[in-house]
Amino acid sequence: MHIRLLDFLSGLSGALDLMSPEVVGHHKRVAYLASRLAHALGVDRKERTELFMAAVLHDVGGFTLQSRLAALSFEADGARHAEIGYRLLRDNPLLDEAAVIVRHHHTPRSRYGVLNEPVRKLQLAGILNLADRVDVLTLRHKACDPTEIMGHIRPRAGYQFDPAAVEALGDLAAEPGFWAPLAPAAKEDPTRSLPDDMFDERGFTHQELMQASTAFSHIIDFRSRFTATHSRGVAETAVILAEKSGMEGARLTAIRLAGNLHDIGKLAVPSEIIDKPGPLNEAERAIMERHPELGETILSSVPGLEDVTAWASQHHEKLNGTGYPNRLSREDIPLGSRVMALADIFTALREDRPYRPGIENGRTMAILEGMATGGALDPELVSLMRGGLVEIDACRRAAQASAAEEFRRFYTGVPAQ
Ligand SMILES: [Fe+2]
Ligand SMILES: [Fe+2]
Ligand SMILES: [Fe+2]
Repeated sequence: MHIRLLDFLSGLSGALDLMSPEVVGHHKRVAYLASRLAHALGVDRKERTELFMAAVLHDVGGFTLQSRLAALSFEADGARHAEIGYRLLRDNPLLDEAAVIVRHHHTPRSRYGVLNEPVRKLQLAGILNLADRVDVLTLRHKACDPTEIMGHIRPRAGYQFDPAAVEALGDLAAEPGFWAPLAPAAKEDPTRSLPDDMFDERGFTHQELMQASTAFSHIIDFRSRFTATHSRGVAETAVILAEKSGMEGARLTAIRLAGNLHDIGKLAVPSEIIDKPGPLNEAERAIMERHPELGETILSSVPGLEDVTAWASQHHEKLNGTGYPNRLSREDIPLGSRVMALADIFTALREDRPYRPGIENGRTMAILEGMATGGALDPELVSLMRGGLVEIDACRRAAQASAAEEFRRFYTGVPAQ
C-alpha cells in the first residue's frame, strides 16, 4: 500500500467539514492559505509541512455542533476546541509537532510572551490563526473581497496577528490568482493548486500508516465516553479474524486501517445525537445511518485506500441483503467487509453501552450464531470466531483497555465547557 502522508491527512480532514454546510472545505482552504503565507514568509519546507498537517486538522477538537460553529466565530469557544485538538494529536509521533500549532491557533500574538512554547511553533500558529480568520471572513461574506478582508485584518496586526504575516497577506491578496482557488464557485480542492515542491512529500512507512489511523480512531471515538474505545476493539478483532481466514501482509494492514476508520463518517453526526441517552427518533436515525456513505466519500478521496474504503464503508451490510446503505447481497460483499461486520457487532455486544453493561461471551456467541443462521453474518467467520473466542476476546479487551487509558489521559485537565 503506497499512501502519501499529506493525501491521507488532507482526505480525512474532509470528515471534519461534514458537520455543517457552513464549514465544508474550511480545513483545506485554511491549509491552502497557511501554506501560501508560510511560503511568502520564507518558512522552510519541513515547517511548511508541519503547518499543513496542523491546518488540515486544526478544528479537530470541535466535537459538538455548538463548538464547531463557535470555531468559526471571532470569539471562538474560549479556544477549548484548540486545546482538545492538541490533546487528540500530541501523543502521536507523526502529529505531535503539529499538535502545538493546533493548540495555539486562536491564541493572540500579544499572549505569546507568557507561553512556554518554542518561538518557531508560535510563529506557525500565528500563520494558522491568520489563515483561519481570512477563511472565516470569506465564508461570512460569501466572497473573497481583498479590500474588505484587509480592512478587517490590518487593524489587528500587532495585538492579534504577526505584522510581518499581515504584510505578506497584503502582498498576496493583491496577486492575481491568489483568491481563485478559494472562490465559492471553485470545485477543486484548493490545496491541489499548491506547487509540488511546497512540502516534504513522501510515502508513509507501514508503521506510520498504523499510527496515523490510530490517531484518527481516537478522533472518531474520543468524542463520547460511550464510543471511546470502539474502533480500537473492532480493529483488533478484525485483524485476528482476518488472519484466521487466511489474509496476510498488506491486506492485514488494510483490515486494521478499515477497523480504525470504519466509523469515520460519524464525525459528521453531531455529538448531541451520538450522546443521546434515549432512543433516536426517525430524523436522528437517518442522520446516524448516513455514516457509512459519508465514510466512503471521505476514504475514497485518498489515493491508495481502495480496499480500506470498500471494507470500512460496508460494515453495516448484511449477507441477506437487509443491511445499509446499499442493501448489498452476498456476492457483492467481499471477505474484508464481512470481517468488519462481524468484528463491529462482536465488539458492540461485548462493550458497555449507556443503556446496558457488556454482554458476556457465551451469550454474545449465541447472538452471533443466530445472526449467521438468519443469513445476516458469514457462518464460516462466525465459526472461526467460536474456535478462537478466548484469544480474540482477550486481544479485544487489551486493545480497548489501552484505548481507555489513553482516553482518561486525554480528558484529564480538559477545560470545562
Ligand atoms: Fe478553530
Ligand atoms: Fe477554523
Ligand atoms: Fe458503524
